[in-house]
Amino acid sequence: MAKPVAIGLFGLGNIGSGLVSLLQERRKGIRDSTGLSISIKAICVKDTGKQRDAALSLEGIRITGDPQAIVQDPDIDVAVELMGGVEPASEMIIKALQHKKPVVTANKAALAAKGDEIFTAASSNGVGIFFEAAVCGSIPIIRVLQESLASDSIQAMFGIINGTTNYILTKMTFDSKEYDAALKEAQKLGFAEPDPAFDVLGNDAAQKLSILASLGFQSRFAEKDVSTEGISSIKKKDIQYADRLGYRIKLLASAKRCRGVENTVSLRVAPTLIPKQHLLSGVLNELNAIFLVGKYVGEQMYYGKGAGQYPTAAAVLSDVIFAAQHLTDAPFPFRNPFLGSKEIQDPLDGVSRFYLRCIVLDKPGVLAKIAGVLGTHGVSIASFTQEERSASGPVPIVLTTHEVSERQIHDAIKEIDALDVVKEKAVSLRIEDFS
Ligand code: HSE
Repeated sequence: MAKPVAIGLFGLGNIGSGLVSLLQERRKGIRDSTGLSISIKAICVKDTGKQRDAALSLEGIRITGDPQAIVQDPDIDVAVELMGGVEPASEMIIKALQHKKPVVTANKAALAAKGDEIFTAASSNGVGIFFEAAVCGSIPIIRVLQESLASDSIQAMFGIINGTTNYILTKMTFDSKEYDAALKEAQKLGFAEPDPAFDVLGNDAAQKLSILASLGFQSRFAEKDVSTEGISSIKKKDIQYADRLGYRIKLLASAKRCRGVENTVSLRVAPTLIPKQHLLSGVLNELNAIFLVGKYVGEQMYYGKGAGQYPTAAAVLSDVIFAAQHLTDAPFPFRNPFLGSKEIQDPLDGVSRFYLRCIVLDKPGVLAKIAGVLGTHGVSIASFTQEERSASGPVPIVLTTHEVSERQIHDAIKEIDALDVVKEKAVSLRIEDFS
């Protein structure tokens, strides 16, 4: 006999509709493999009169505008929140938890902003909160951090965790497009939103990284703790120079324990040069990946679709299955990942190698001036190239440095930009060698 499991769903947008359809397709298979007979009992929507896609079968499902119809219904076993946005989604999640219902959510914004309240509500009510779909869609990284790697000590995580920016940078790299053209193409194909700011400025990746880092380092991190820089000022030229130096430019999210500084981590989202031969360089288009380093397991990489209706709905449904398998009267053994107290490194103290591009006049003594400023700030040059001048006018020079702090680079660039021989603001990008 299959065990019946009733879902109460908040939200019937793209992912919610995907969940309805996916469940119809997979119900029998899931029953055969897990012994659970899962169905959606009620869906709470903003507008009950809204015309829905005719192909979406809502037969037997109660559509309501009243959240209480879900949180107070004793026959609903699992609440699924797919409304998106911080409020009222967080309120619905917390209410359902308070009514002892396990909650599955895909809502990274709610977790990044209200994680404390949500996790406290889960642990104090002894029910689970499951959020695999909130970070990198279909990639099962949350369960990996919570369970599969619970025995290890995560040293560092690096991710390409935003599909929009990865698509744009891929097109700039391989199709030689400038940023604006690549963004337009991404929008046409539905990989970028009509207002792309949240993705291209790095906020989406910062929210996801704050959740990954909270789990990986068992401490409370929020989006504001992540030093965040987007890709909108990256030029095709920089991608080409990076290519000649053996690197790709990626929007890299990184969370690392700081070497030699006890209990401190660095959290950063920034366009970064990574070696072409590194596994993350092969993550192209809208795909996502997380590369992590465990003290005992060593290096691992998780790769897949980070968004999309079915990939995300599949992650949601797997969480429903997991929640249903742990439905019991005993309190759910939930570990609040936000109880630790790791310090966050001042981003200016972060040390790395840097790529530097300056546009300068091509005349005697210019190089000496730039090298002089760098030297004054303790920045050691590792490599240098200058393009042949094709006509009179400024030329780009491209440098890489040995390891220095971001503070040193910032201070040096401030002085370089003020030199009369420098014709555009210098561009500096971090180089991640994964060492
Ligand atoms: N907008 C996100 C991305 C997907 O481009 O990866 C949802 O998190």
